[in-house]
Amino acid sequence: MRYITFALAKGRLAKNALALFEQIGITCEEMKDEKTRKLIFVNEELGFKFFLAKPTDVPTYVEYGAADIGIVGKDTLLEEGRELYEVLDLNMGKCRMCVAGPESAKEKLKHHELIRVASKYPNIAKDYFYNQKNQTVEIIKLNGSVELAPIVGLAEVIVDIVETGATLKENGLGVLEEVCPLSARMVVNQVSMKMENERISKIINDLRAVIPKD
Ligand code: PRP
Repeated sequence: MRYITFALAKGRLAKNALALFEQIGITCEEMKDEKTRKLIFVNEELGFKFFLAKPTDVPTYVEYGAADIGIVGKDTLLEEGRELYEVLDLNMGKCRMCVAGPESAKEKLKHHELIRVASKYPNIAKDYFYNQKNQTVEIIKLNGSVELAPIVGLAEVIVDIVETGATLKENGLGVLEEVCPLSARMVVNQVSMKMENERISKIINDLRAVIPKD
C-alpha cells in the first residue's frame, strides 16, 4: 500500500486538524510530542505520513505531489494561487480578510485616492483593489505585525486577517472594508485525487461527518 501524505500548516491549525482526524480514526501519537525535532511522522498501520510545514509552503507541497493532502487556511490558498483541488471547508480557524486602518483613511478609500496598502498578502490586496474595486493603489509587502504600517506612516491602510479585532482595537485601528471570509480548508493534489480516489474520498466523507457546525 502506498502512503498517503498529509502536509499540515504549523501551529494552532495543525493541532485542531489532528483532533478532527482523531475523530475519524486517523491518529499519529508521535506528532503530539511538542518537544520533538522530528519533521515527518508515520503511521505504518494506516499507511499515512504527516509533516508540518510553514503555512505558505503547504500549497506548494500539495501542488507538486510531495503531499497528497494539505490542511491550510483559505488566506494562504488565495495568496499562493496553486493548482490543486480545494475539497473541504473545515469550518475551523474562522476569521476575515479585511481592509483596516484609522478612521481618517475612510475618506481616502471612498474617493479612490492613490493610497499605499501594506499587507502580508500582496496578491489578495492587489486582486481586491485592482479587480474588484477598480482602484489603483500602491501595495507594500510586509512579513508580520502589519498593523504597524498605518501607525508609523508606511501606508494608509492594511489588508490583513481579523479574528477577534483585538489587535486593531488596541492599536487605534478598525475594519474599513471586508474582503472575504476565511477558514481552514483541506486541499488535494490533482493526480492523487485520481490515483488514490478511494482512500482520499473516504477521508473526505468521514471528515464531513465530524466537521464542527456553526
Ligand atoms: C494575525 C493577524 C493580526 C491578528 C488578528 O497575526 O495578522 O495581526 O492575528 O487577530 P485578532 O483580530 O484576534 O487580534 P499573527 O498573530 O498571525 O501574527 P503576524 O502579526 O506576524 O501576522
